[in-house]
Amino acid sequence: ILPDMVEIFEVGPRDGLQNEPRMIATDQKIALIDLLSGAGFQRIEVASFVSPRLLPQMADAAQVLAGLNRVPGVAYAALTPNLKGFERALAAGADEVAIFGAASEGFSRANINASIAQSLERFAPVAQAAAKAGVPVRGYVSCAIACPFDGPTPVAQVARVAAALRDLGCYQISLGDTIGAGTPQSVRAMLNAVLQELPADQLAGHFHDTGGRALANIEASLDLGLRVFDAAVGGLGGCPFAGNAPGNVATETVVNWLHNRGFVTGLDPEAIGQAAALARGLRGSAGTR
Ligand code: HMG
Ligand code: MG
Repeated sequence: ILPDMVEIFEVGPRDGLQNEPRMIATDQKIALIDLLSGAGFQRIEVASFVSPRLLPQMADAAQVLAGLNRVPGVAYAALTPNLKGFERALAAGADEVAIFGAASEGFSRANINASIAQSLERFAPVAQAAAKAGVPVRGYVSCAIACPFDGPTPVAQVARVAAALRDLGCYQISLGDTIGAGTPQSVRAMLNAVLQELPADQLAGHFHDTGGRALANIEASLDLGLRVFDAAVGGLGGCPFAGNAPGNVATETVVNWLHNRGFVTGLDPEAIGQAAALARGLRGSAGTR
């Protein structure tokens, strides 16, 4: 019997660093990503091509991509909410991009200044341009469990948005527990609804650890057949307005947990440990925690 493979999609340089209140120098971001690319990840999310006014931490996205010591076989990914973002990402040499929607209207408005329906309309030309350029597109569904504005998210809404992103051409849909509100029970209920629309091998789990239940939620997702999980080295991220609240589930924690259970990740725990130490140093020097 072959061991079960699980892929970790590393999002620390993007989802983690975007939340850091202190501006992190471009060369520090590059150093972190270069450590990560030596650890065996197939895909690393390194930047967002979004409004630099709204998210100054990601304003150097193109410089980050330009400065990388690119490892062949590693896909360097970036978020692209609109055509302008996609064009910037393409010019910067991103290997794949992601469009990011939400399953709740409140978060969609707050995050990308569009209703869910408007956001899907804006994503369509991005997906078309990406297809034309041969760039794979990933899709995110935020607030797959609950929304900070609208409360618990109806599972049918998650399934609907996930299917819409699939219909736009996304090769994989990452289901985001944006505020870490999930429990194994609510995650199972949500996944059972989404699995009516998409097979498990087109889905990824994206768990923030705010509630301390990310590993339990990953376990519930594994039981339902998911084999791709997003994680951030050093547990980077977290809400700048919530004190010491944890961010994305930490890559090193997930990898050790998976290895202890006999899953194969292809990742080198020692190299991840080095990247995690650097990442924690970036957090530590932010001065707020
Ligand atoms: P908008 O205001 O509706 O867009 O923003 P706009 O087209 O009217 O543009 C407004 C200004 O932004 C203009 O500049 C544009 O040029 C500029 P101004 O004329 O005011 O000087 N602009 C851009 N600049 C650079 N690159 C671009 C770009 N687009 C517009 N691509 C928009 C809509 C989506 C752009 C905006 O709301 C935005 O940038 N939001 C940032 C959202 C974000 O990055 N959120 C964090 C990532 S999502 C996440 O973390 C969740 C996830 O981890 C999963 C989970 O946990 O759930 C993925
Ligand atoms: Mg996230």
